[in-house]
Amino acid sequence: MEVRKAVLPVAGWGTRFLPATKAMPKEMFPIIDKPVIQFIVEECLDAGIDNIIFVTGRHKRPIEHHFDINTDLEKHLENCGKTQLLKNIMEISRLVNPIYIRQKEQLGLGHAVLVSEPTVGYEPFIVCLGDVILKDEESVLTKMMEVYRRFGKSVIAVFEVEEREVSKYGIIDGRHIERDIHIIDDLIEKPKIEEAPSRLAIVGRYLFTPKIFEKLKVTPPGRGGEIQLTDAIKLLLEEEAVYAIKINSKVYDTGTPMGYLQTMIEFALQREDLRDDLTKYLRGLLIQPTEV
Ligand code: UTP
Repeated sequence: MEVRKAVLPVAGWGTRFLPATKAMPKEMFPIIDKPVIQFIVEECLDAGIDNIIFVTGRHKRPIEHHFDINTDLEKHLENCGKTQLLKNIMEISRLVNPIYIRQKEQLGLGHAVLVSEPTVGYEPFIVCLGDVILKDEESVLTKMMEVYRRFGKSVIAVFEVEEREVSKYGIIDGRHIERDIHIIDDLIEKPKIEEAPSRLAIVGRYLFTPKIFEKLKVTPPGRGGEIQLTDAIKLLLEEEAVYAIKINSKVYDTGTPMGYLQTMIEFALQREDLRDDLTKYLRGLLIQPTEV
């Protein structure tokens, strides 16, 4: 069965970004002039998936407004003759086919995925974390769907991290099958360097068979009392194969202040209208650091 739906869990508290996230979703933080979540929605659309299921929570309404039609704004832009902006704004709301479901209590990423079950139904689906942007020449989701088409089983995107970084991620223990494909034996959440079975870290893009829902239902709360997606995948591994695809994308975790800053700076340096002025500004700062 073809993959038609993507679940984007965006209900988390975003505690690493408080107080900014008290009333504003971190997924709506701008990378210059485009919110993080729009990059992720565009990634899904590029892979041919326009059935997008947002798992939202309180304070997440701006996400719904962002993908909705705003006729007043459109009229205003039309009257001002701002045709390019008008085109952009119209595209955002017309390309996506969004569904919003509430995760009433923030019981973890695994729980957020489980909440989407009635909308996903019994079919394979994609999960994209709402705060991780990938930059790649090729579509990671398309590659994942190709692996799914071949093996008919769940697929997780992984990327190679430095040894000193392994303790920040979920790391796979797997066997290489061919090219960039591995079959997973186990997953270890944030291992110490000496205990890490590989340097292949889970990146925040998953393709699941619907069996994952069965496993999520019986996954006991783990770290922080939350239902961890990784724990459910470990249960899934007991019953069916799970594959990993190693990607070469640049990974931007916008959910921490440092990751967000890096994303902003890198994206700005890639923009023709900002690159020169920003470079000049940063050079000036680095040559004469200001006392704060
Ligand atoms: P994070 O692990 O970044 O958690 O979630 P968080 O709660 O948002 O942020 P911190 O750790 O408190 O700073 C990864 C993705 O999963 C969603 C988040 O919105 C984010 O996009 N999520 C997380 C949920 O939808 N529900 C949850 O209960 C937890």
